[in-house]
Amino acid sequence: MSKSNDQAVISDPRIREANVTIPVYGQLPFVPVRASGCDIFTDDGRRILDLYGGHAVAALGYGHPKQLKAVTEQCNKLIFQSNVVALEIRAQAAEKLTRVSPKGLDRVFFVNSGAEANENALRMACMATGRKKVLAITHGFHGRTAAAAAVTWNADRWYGFPNKPLEVDFIPRDDIAAAEAMIGDDIAAVIFEPVQGVAGGYDLSTDFLHSLRDLTSANGALLIADEVQSGIGRCGQFFAVDVHQIEPDILTSAKSLGGGIPCGAVLCTHSIAVCFGTGDLGTTFGGGPLAAAAIVATIDAISDENLLSNVRRSEIAIREKCVVGPVTRIQGMGLLLGLVCDRPAVEVRDALLSHDILTGTSSDPNIIRILAPLVLELQHIDHLAEALQNIAPATD
Ligand SMILES: Cc1ncc(COP(=O)(O)O)c(C=O)c1O
Repeated sequence: MSKSNDQAVISDPRIREANVTIPVYGQLPFVPVRASGCDIFTDDGRRILDLYGGHAVAALGYGHPKQLKAVTEQCNKLIFQSNVVALEIRAQAAEKLTRVSPKGLDRVFFVNSGAEANENALRMACMATGRKKVLAITHGFHGRTAAAAAVTWNADRWYGFPNKPLEVDFIPRDDIAAAEAMIGDDIAAVIFEPVQGVAGGYDLSTDFLHSLRDLTSANGALLIADEVQSGIGRCGQFFAVDVHQIEPDILTSAKSLGGGIPCGAVLCTHSIAVCFGTGDLGTTFGGGPLAAAAIVATIDAISDENLLSNVRRSEIAIREKCVVGPVTRIQGMGLLLGLVCDRPAVEVRDALLSHDILTGTSSDPNIIRILAPLVLELQHIDHLAEALQNIAPATD
């Protein structure tokens, strides 16, 4: 049978994807065809409440009118031009993003993803300090590219490259004494996630984060906040470092930044920005007009619709109502929450999916992750609580 005939007889996209893509993802057993608000509709007629938001991307949910209007209008006007020219919409995106970013971060470099943002942040730290060693935090995740993966905890089993581009060591999370012993004048930067997302929504303590700030400042090292997952309102402020009143030197953003249109950003202080000139950093797609329009719409919607308050309200309701059934404890912040379970998280995720609720797992085998759209409603939380309650007790 010819290749084209093969494709004609098989209609299930799961089989067709499996036939022609590299099988690196464990896929879930449903096929979305459209989505609206917090709901995904599948090809076999199911309506699934999405509390996972496409790995923390769908900040505004699906089909948000402001986002659709902004992206559609931008498509009609100018779908792409690179950084070789200035654009009104890119200027707007940069102005808005720096305005909602932590104090002092008034310069931005646009990229396309979280890993690319961290890759550039690490390069910038090495170039600005002239140092080549970086410290990261145990259990942290920063992406799959060479430097981002080098600072990711436990990445050796998939790292792949023969060498790492940086010297890296890991500070045990929340261990202030270790931070004191490890941060010296040979360190270019310390990179951290204020709330460790892939690790299951583990929120680093305020005291630990302040010690990182004080020790990096005292040693001429830079502090890089990776807010790829925790940022853009997910933790109840525009950025999670704001909750701790920490001012990093560099901050990275992606995921929710464009609400689903791929984009990322590196923010830094003016004094770091002046270390770079023409040709030192670059990307073709970063800061493209479609991404810029999506960034403007996302930030505007979060501000105009009081979504930060909605996130804080949602967190309170989830903490009050959802320590039921298999859930023994909740960690994290805002809508980046880890529900600690009395059994393997995969079992709880699958049981919730059979109740038409989508959650995520994490690198902790007993934690399911909630990364819901910031437009989540109380009725959705009640639905989750009821479904958790209905999961049968664990059998020993
Ligand atoms: C904290 C953090 N940093 C970086 C990344 C990598 O982002 P991307 O997948 O867009 O490269 C992720 C992805 O999960 C993340 O959670």
